[in-house]
Amino acid sequence: MSNTLQKISVERTKMSKINQIDFDNLSFGNVFTDHMLVCDYKNGVWEAPKIVPYQSLSLDPSAKIFHYGQSIFEGMKAYKDEKDAIWLFRPIENHRRLNISARRMAMPELPEEYFMDGLTALLQVDAAWVPKKAGSSLYIRPFMFATGKGFHASPADEYKFIIACAPSGAYFSGKVKVLIEEKYSRSANGGVGFAKTGGNYAGQFYPTKLAIEKGYNQVIWTDDHAHEYIEEAGAMNIFIRIGDVLITGPTSDRILDGITRKSILEIANREGIATEVRKISVKEVLQAAKKGTLKEMFGAGTAAVVSPISSFGYQGTDYDLPELADSYADLLKKKVTDIQYNRSEDPFGWRLKVS
Ligand code: PLP
Ligand code: COI
Repeated sequence: MSNTLQKISVERTKMSKINQIDFDNLSFGNVFTDHMLVCDYKNGVWEAPKIVPYQSLSLDPSAKIFHYGQSIFEGMKAYKDEKDAIWLFRPIENHRRLNISARRMAMPELPEEYFMDGLTALLQVDAAWVPKKAGSSLYIRPFMFATGKGFHASPADEYKFIIACAPSGAYFSGKVKVLIEEKYSRSANGGVGFAKTGGNYAGQFYPTKLAIEKGYNQVIWTDDHAHEYIEEAGAMNIFIRIGDVLITGPTSDRILDGITRKSILEIANREGIATEVRKISVKEVLQAAKKGTLKEMFGAGTAAVVSPISSFGYQGTDYDLPELADSYADLLKKKVTDIQYNRSEDPFGWRLKVS
């Protein structure tokens, strides 16, 4: 624990729920561990973080989170290896991005030691909750929201930072069928697309619901200007393989700077896979599909890891992607999860042991 932070107080639950959990059949994000970390921001300072039993919150009806949506979050995972050691993957990147989101939403930044020491202490208390079954992990949700009161449309003066955790299985079961969006937009230049703020997700629910009604699982977001360029796949960054080149769009105001995305790019480069970070148009993807050079599309993100796309819909036509025995998606998923679960060397120094 760092010197700047006093010891984190721990109030343990009197009744653990752990025996009620079926660790062999975990879905994603539906059951929660026994404890959570809570830290309040008042009078311009962050108070000492505390670990308390997981519990409901009491908020004033005028709390600004309810009215003006000052709310940000992160998504990360803890992994258990064969010897029961617990590992985090690039956690500093999540802290960095939390503060990028905070700045954009006019919220206070959280000091690194509050995030890292708080997370580590919480994982030590709830260590037994990190699942060991292949494909399972402890999904960690750090989040911050405005608790300050008042109907005035201005930033709140009080905030709460919480870390809650959910032992989880896969986000998607099976391959993903996507619809390229032509009407709605997730984000815009000068907007908040690069921030992990609640409204970005709420705004996706309606167009995604329409896509689900048409038989798809997810929407592929295109640029808000002319819906010409492919940007993201739901709450994942997107990769497209044309020939043997793996392409992903550049991050921007509109595209989240995904930690999985940049890890996949580095692993691919190390594996000798040609990568290109550039704008990729719907037209180029359609032409490749028609020529037979469109080999793969997959989403990448913490929750979904690497999720292969089986087909995409555009203007009333569905385009199937081939089943490849030696897909980049399989290779890259294996490489990244081997690092995360401590099954391989970590040449990049991304893994952090929780001890
Ligand atoms: N894009 C969006 C919109 C997301 O919500 C996420 C999930 O966090 C990602 C991409 C992937 O980011 P990461 O790999 O850091 O989880
Ligand atoms: C994640 O991948 O961790 C995310 O935050 C996406 C979320 C919508 C599940």
